Amino acid sequence: MTPDIDTALAWRWIRRIADEVGENRFTGIVADGGYRLEIDARGGWRASYPAAADAAQLLTIWLPWCVADVSAGPRVIAQLGQSLDGRIATASGASHYVTGRASLVHLHRLRALVDAVVVGAGTVDADDPQLTVRHVEGRNPLRVVLDPQARVPPSRRVFREPAAPTWHLVAEGTAPAVPAEHVSCHRLPVEDAGIAPQQVIALLAAQGCRRILVEGGGVTISRFLQAECLDRLHSVVAPMIIGSGRPAVILPEIDTLDRALRPACRQFALGEDRLFDLDLRRSADA
Ligand SMILES: NC(=O)c1ccc[n+]([C@@H]2O[C@H](COP(=O)([O-])OP(=O)(O)OC[C@H]3O[C@@H](n4cnc5c(N)ncnc54)[C@H](OP(=O)(O)O)[C@@H]3O)[C@@H](O)[C@H]2O)c1
Repeated sequence: MTPDIDTALAWRWIRRIADEVGENRFTGIVADGGYRLEIDARGGWRASYPAAADAAQLLTIWLPWCVADVSAGPRVIAQLGQSLDGRIATASGASHYVTGRASLVHLHRLRALVDAVVVGAGTVDADDPQLTVRHVEGRNPLRVVLDPQARVPPSRRVFREPAAPTWHLVAEGTAPAVPAEHVSCHRLPVEDAGIAPQQVIALLAAQGCRRILVEGGGVTISRFLQAECLDRLHSVVAPMIIGSGRPAVILPEIDTLDRALRPACRQFALGEDRLFDLDLRRSADA
C-alpha cells in the first residue's frame, strides 16, 4: 500500500514546484512515484493520497508563495520572529532566541525557497548570522548585507566564510575592505530615507533573482514595507513578553485605525509559536 504523503515528500515537491515556476515550466501537476499533486493558480492543492497533518500544513503554507508569478519581477517576502509585545530583541540586541525550534526550521525553509536573503547592518553586527540553509535540504541563497556606511566589521562570518556568495551593499563613495573572494561590493545612491529598497530589488532582479527574502532586522523590513516593496510578511509570534527592546515594525504615525494595514492573513501553529502569513497585496476584506 502507498504510504501517506510525509513532510520529506511534501518538501521535495515544494522545492521542485518553486524551481519549475521560476523556470516557467510549471504545469500545475506534479507526478512522483505513485503520487499526484494538482495545484491551482493561488497555491490551493489536491493530492491523490492522504497527506500527514504536518505535510499538509507544509504544502498549504508554501504553495501560494511558490506558485506566485515571477515573470514580471521578483517576489519579496520578509520574516520576523517577535514577542507578543512586538519586540525582536532586547534593547542591547540579544535575540537568541525569541521563537522556538519549529520557527527556526521554518526560517531555513524560507531561505531555501529564495534566490537572495537581505539583512541590515544591525543584524549582521549583532547576530553574526551565516544566512545559510542548514536545518532542511536546500540551496544557500545569495547573501546581501545592506550596510551603507560599511560599518560591519570584516570579521563577521558572512564576509569570512565562503558558504555562499555575498554582496556588500554600501553607499556610493564608500570604500569597504573586501576581505574574501566570495564577497562583492556594490555601491548604491543614498537618499534622505537611505537606500531605496526598489534599487536593491532592481539590482537583484538584474542578477536573475526571482524570489527575495528580507530577513531583518526591524529597521530594514520596515523600510521595505513602507516603500511597498513586500509581497508577503511572515510574522512569527512567540508567547513571550520582552517589555522593552528593538521593535519589529516601525512605520510613520497614523491618527486613526482606518489607516492601519489590514492585509489578508492566514495563521498556522509552529510549535509553541504562531505564524501569521500576511499577503500584503490583498486586503483582509478582499
Ligand atoms: N527576531 C528576529 O526575527 C530578528 C531578525 C533579525 C534581527 N534581529 C535582531 O534585531 C536587531 C537588529 O535589527 P535592527 O532593526 O536594529 O537593525 P537592522 O534592520 O538589522 O539594520 C538596520 C541598519 O541597516 C542599514 N539599513 C537597512 N536598510 C537600509 C536602507 N534601506 N538604506 C540604508 N541603510 C539601511 C542601516 O545601517 P546604518 O545604521 O549603518 O545606516 C540601518 O540602521 C539585532 O539585535 C538582531 O539580533 C531579530
